[in-house]
Amino acid sequence: MTLLGRELILGVGGGISAYKSAELLRRLQDIGFGVTVIPTRASLNFVGTATWEALSGRPVTENLWNNVHEVPHIKAARNSNLIVVAPATADLLAKVASGLADDFLTNVLSATVSPVVFVPAMHTEMWSNPATKKNVALLRERGYLVIEPDEGRMTGDDSGVGRYPEVSRIISELSAYAELKSDLLGRKVLVTAGGTREAIDPVRFIGNHSSGKQGYAIAKAARNRGAQVVLISANSNLPNLVGVETISVSSTLQMQDALNSRFSECDLLFMAAAVADARPVSVASEKIKKSGFDNIELQLNPDLLSDLSKKRRASQVLVAFAAETGDADIEAARVKLNSKGADLLFLNDVSHGAIFGSEKTQGKLIDSNGVVLECAEQEKDTLADLLLNQALTKLGWAND
Ligand code: CTP
Repeated sequence: MTLLGRELILGVGGGISAYKSAELLRRLQDIGFGVTVIPTRASLNFVGTATWEALSGRPVTENLWNNVHEVPHIKAARNSNLIVVAPATADLLAKVASGLADDFLTNVLSATVSPVVFVPAMHTEMWSNPATKKNVALLRERGYLVIEPDEGRMTGDDSGVGRYPEVSRIISELSAYAELKSDLLGRKVLVTAGGTREAIDPVRFIGNHSSGKQGYAIAKAARNRGAQVVLISANSNLPNLVGVETISVSSTLQMQDALNSRFSECDLLFMAAAVADARPVSVASEKIKKSGFDNIELQLNPDLLSDLSKKRRASQVLVAFAAETGDADIEAARVKLNSKGADLLFLNDVSHGAIFGSEKTQGKLIDSNGVVLECAEQEKDTLADLLLNQALTKLGWAND
């Protein structure tokens, strides 16, 4: 089973404190990051690739010229949610401040749009050098986090400011900077997104307008909060989410298979997908002529959520979504929630083309007692976090 999580690059500069980044790597893994290490060539004099490969469980290279056909610096930059450079030498700070990119790490740093954290460690004289000071100020001005080094004993007999900070301080400062929440650490979240399609013939299908945006927003938010996320995506055009295992399906029966294979391991299920209620009894092997359209026999699809809720564990939380047109009827929604065995249901009004495909949404979150939360118009990303908060309050730690 390959459940993924948040993704991070650990850049290692050429300083004696490079060995302390081995401990940092471990703590970053503890808070749910998959870590890829990119050392500079100089740093390999202190800690070799074997150490980084063994600790990260991944291949490690400092060479920009490996696998050039995969454009690795762009791939690495895109595939990480956060970059931490530790130790950051005076030379590395200077390079990034002036936009230089002459090796793998500095190329990744110049290509990324993710938050970047520098953990400088060097002798006091180098840290207080006017050029270094100016570079640090410039990097901070540009929005990078440059953590203050500790004060204490240096490599030789001297002491002063410039020591590699305590790992716990690095973790707490970078968590605040990157707004990391870890309240879903160790949790497994299963999300369906998009809309299922039922083939009529080789060119036509029964489908719906669901874009998948709400489901993808939930998957992303859960990943950012430390969860391991599986996303079952039906016919969505949205780009894959880094650190989220995505299973692509098309029809309702394919979604059912994927759900059946992953449901038992999850703690939270979000059924954000719009599931086609019915499918043709048989799929024509040839394109149907106009004259054949007066009668397409349909059969009902299984109700995926109801079927799952029959085999749920008490400690799992199931969240349903209902898109209705016209005035939202809370009582009808409550009946739907109960009949499907869900814990929460997000009810939204999709009349007049609102919601589908949009970045924004609004609606009401209900549980078996009635409305839990009125959700005024907001970004789907914001709603995703609210839904996760509410689902968490329903989540028991029972080990049943
Ligand atoms: N759902 C499901 N299987 C289906 C239909 C819906 O699991 N065959 C899930 C959806 O993913 C959603 C919830 O049930 O989370 C409610 O979807 P909705 O389409 O409102 O439910 P229906 O049972 O189809 O109700 P209606 O008759 O009102 O369309």
